[in-house]
Amino acid sequence: MSKPTVYFTRRLPAPALAKLADAADVRLWDFDDAPVPRDVLLAHIADAEGLICLLSDQIDAEIIDAGKKLKVVSQYAVGVDNIDLAACRARGIVVGNTPGVLAETTADLAFALLMAAARDLRNADEFVRAGQWKTWSPLLFAGPDVHGATLGIVGMGAIGQAVAQRARGFDMRVLYASRKAHPEAEEKYDAAQVDLDELLSQSDFVSLHTALTPETKGLIGARELSLMKPTAILINTARGLIVNQTALYDALRAKKIAGAALDVFEVEPVPGDEPLLTLPNVLVAPHIGSASLATRTTMAFLAVENLLAGLRGESLPHPVG
Ligand code: DGY
Repeated sequence: MSKPTVYFTRRLPAPALAKLADAADVRLWDFDDAPVPRDVLLAHIADAEGLICLLSDQIDAEIIDAGKKLKVVSQYAVGVDNIDLAACRARGIVVGNTPGVLAETTADLAFALLMAAARDLRNADEFVRAGQWKTWSPLLFAGPDVHGATLGIVGMGAIGQAVAQRARGFDMRVLYASRKAHPEAEEKYDAAQVDLDELLSQSDFVSLHTALTPETKGLIGARELSLMKPTAILINTARGLIVNQTALYDALRAKKIAGAALDVFEVEPVPGDEPLLTLPNVLVAPHIGSASLATRTTMAFLAVENLLAGLRGESLPHPVG
């Protein structure tokens, strides 16, 4: 019996690929770790019964339409804002993602960014390397304390809760804003639910952990930033479009807030002429929230399991919607 053809928009960690060897004819885009060109994807999707894609691939109605044999779209991420879910639904194509395995790793990065921004490690590192360190000085790079500060978590899903857990270890007061209450998390992390405005005005650090949806697009704009303390730091490891980047630039430049640490951007990769990159009080990373070797490998297994189930016409282990 012939194997179903599947298309990968990038090479995934090898152990997961091995699982597919006997089950599918795998074709993949594997050039310089660059995104698959749209025309290449359009050409390959025509034969594919399954697709594994990344958050950087736009799987829109045109791609779905071109995938005449497509049964399953398996996203190598939790967020699926790059996939036209309605177009998939309309064609009966199932969609899967990789939840439950990257919360701790992403929370590690959120906390690393929070601490590095608080203590201005980016500029401290440059200062030493540039030979500017001439003497020990009482207020040299003196920043705010992390321990004992108030942390506002926007979105109290698995990642938000993993961040709350880390905050407890630093004796932080934890506030959260979320569509629904999370009584167990409140108990476990001594967290209090407040509305977004109150969270913004009371927090020393605001960390975003909500999915990108039509409701959360632009959630943090000029008005919201103006509610934050002038000493506050914004951390975004969720999705860039949750924050209005122009408003953020204005707020940082005018010192309406003290700093930002960003792993995600409105446009990724962030263009070199992005104004935020000119500001000294901005720390950036290239969307690496879930980038530990173990987590990225586990994510690959989940993506492959979703793919295989979809090819067999079974329910996906991790369906979306
Ligand atoms: C996700 O899963 O949505 C992250 O942004 C990448 O792991």
